[in-house]
Amino acid sequence: MSFRLNSCNYALIVGAGHGIGFGLVHALLVKNSKTRIMATYRKRENAEKLLSLQSEYKDRLEIIQIDATKESEICNLSNSIKEKNIGLDLIINCIGMLHNDDILPEKSLKDFNCEAFIEVMRVNSIVTPLLAKHFEKQLNNDVTSVFATISAKVGSIEDNRIGGWYSYRASKAALNMLIKTIAIEFTRKRKKCVVLAVHPGTTKTELSQPFIKRTTYKIHETHETASNILNVIENRDSHDTGKFLSWDAQELPW
Ligand SMILES: NC(=O)c1ccc[n+]([C@@H]2O[C@H](COP(=O)([O-])OP(=O)(O)OC[C@H]3O[C@@H](n4cnc5c(N)ncnc54)[C@H](OP(=O)(O)O)[C@@H]3O)[C@@H](O)[C@H]2O)c1
Repeated sequence: MSFRLNSCNYALIVGAGHGIGFGLVHALLVKNSKTRIMATYRKRENAEKLLSLQSEYKDRLEIIQIDATKESEICNLSNSIKEKNIGLDLIINCIGMLHNDDILPEKSLKDFNCEAFIEVMRVNSIVTPLLAKHFEKQLNNDVTSVFATISAKVGSIEDNRIGGWYSYRASKAALNMLIKTIAIEFTRKRKKCVVLAVHPGTTKTELSQPFIKRTTYKIHETHETASNILNVIENRDSHDTGKFLSWDAQELPW
């Protein structure tokens, strides 16, 4: 049996305040009139568009403020969803960082900094295993579900041809290994769940904003990326679990 978006009753989108996560929430609300969505954000000042959807979709959208990099907050979210006694059909982790006010991706080794490396690693790699740990038992076990994480092609070790961006690359490579390992554990314990790492393609967001001028890749708006990601996960089945997929459905090398 494959995953069908039109049978997706409950979805959890983590990191939905803006960017690709917001695009996914919006696309799911518009495309699938039966899907109920729980969407998380961290910074209220960045989540205005998400919060403004609440009045239009009050029966189908629940917005929750958490810092998903903190296990206690993921655990509380999991407990509150457990109380509702629902099975999640879709979980997508959209959290990620490339830069912030203090951190820029490294052009070369002279820019490498231990604290920055640890912070990028923390934000980009730990949310996915925490979600898998605390939501494993809440994935719908009656039908095929999807547990996906937005990764990045630059995390592919085989595909690394131009170097640079040490911390971001390493954090996404670590994330990819975590996803692959979760997929293996879930084939034993959560057989109907398809676990995927998805490269969203270059997308106009805060994360890409400082670098987008120089890219030679096709640039997508968030609504295009959201639609691409939903197309990539549609119809996936147990044969696909543990794959690293690009926005155009191509399989990427780890
Ligand atoms: N845009 C691209 O071209 C592109 C390409 C390849 C991969 N990706 C990946 O796509 C995913 C989504 O990124 P995006 O492009 O949509 O960027 P974005 O708009 O900057 O969104 C990043 C998300 O991560 C959260 N976040 C950032 N720092 C955080 C921290 N320290 N603690 C907790 N949450 C934090 C943000 O929430 P708050 O603002 O509320 O903190 C937001 O929800 C990321 O994993 C990124 O690596 C993006």
